[in-house]
Amino acid sequence: MRRRLWFGLVVVLLLALVACSTKQSPAITDPKSTEAHTISGTWWLMCGLASAVYLVVGGLIVVALFRGRRKGGPTPFRIRDNTFIVVGGLIIPAAILLVLGAQVVHASNNLRQPEKNPLHIEVVGKRWWWAVSYPDQGITTANEVHIPVGRPIEIGLDSDNVIHSFWVPQLGGKVDLIPGQHNIWRLKATKSGTFRGECAEFCGLQHARMNFLVVAQPAATFDQWLVRHQLPPSGPDNQLAATGQMIFMREPCSGCHTIRGTTADGTIGPDLTDVGSRLALGANTIPNTDGYLSGWIVDSQSIKPGNLMPPIPMSSSDLQAVVAYLRSLK
Ligand code: CUA
Repeated sequence: MRRRLWFGLVVVLLLALVACSTKQSPAITDPKSTEAHTISGTWWLMCGLASAVYLVVGGLIVVALFRGRRKGGPTPFRIRDNTFIVVGGLIIPAAILLVLGAQVVHASNNLRQPEKNPLHIEVVGKRWWWAVSYPDQGITTANEVHIPVGRPIEIGLDSDNVIHSFWVPQLGGKVDLIPGQHNIWRLKATKSGTFRGECAEFCGLQHARMNFLVVAQPAATFDQWLVRHQLPPSGPDNQLAATGQMIFMREPCSGCHTIRGTTADGTIGPDLTDVGSRLALGANTIPNTDGYLSGWIVDSQSIKPGNLMPPIPMSSSDLQAVVAYLRSLK
């Protein structure tokens, strides 16, 4: 019996260690926005109360196991009145649920309150990527949302296909993107950093690879980003990239992707105006390096099967040129 108990304890400890060591994963217990602080506060209260109940009940079981039944002596002690059941089974659980209920109502009322002078951003859920635009600034990008720290943000959420769900655990709760319904997520980042977001509603074959990044920057850095992105990219600055631009416009690429300031104006795939400066590719599926970019162009289906981009066969010199061109777009 004791050996089994020790084994159980060791397993629980190991699980706790694994949970603590996966720092890479975004966690709601690491809040970086006003909304996320409210949510994590509620989470800690729930966790604390649940742990207390678990420890008390578990402790009673362990005491009972180790004590065992008394040999001889008087008849074993039994609870003759209902005090134990009324207090332990009704009053204490009711009090706990009441506290949790009050906290949840209070927290929900405080989430997503409109504030003055928000920055408007629109996000549309696509077939496994996210179209991101700043309507007041005329900027369009994909899978990467830049926001300033400290300023209220309003993100309008829509979908042109099935239901997706926009979730950045460190910045707030999930909000669904529902075809035909315009939902709004409001938040205010309290710390700068790059936070991973993901789709939290099963939406098809590549649901698990429908990720994105939110880059929260100090106001001044964000303003620089904004100004730089308002201007169309300043044409290729070397011969290889110029050749790449020509090939890009000749091949099917330009029918599906937009690059501002050029004839490429497709809207099926992500806007590539700033693809050279993005942190990742394929909705945060692969790193944005020349090798991965080449692989994606030639056969994105082997990386993310079912996405809408067909394989684009190209000679290696053409591919090199196209990659050089895309790399120059910042
Ligand atoms: Cu989009 Cu799951």
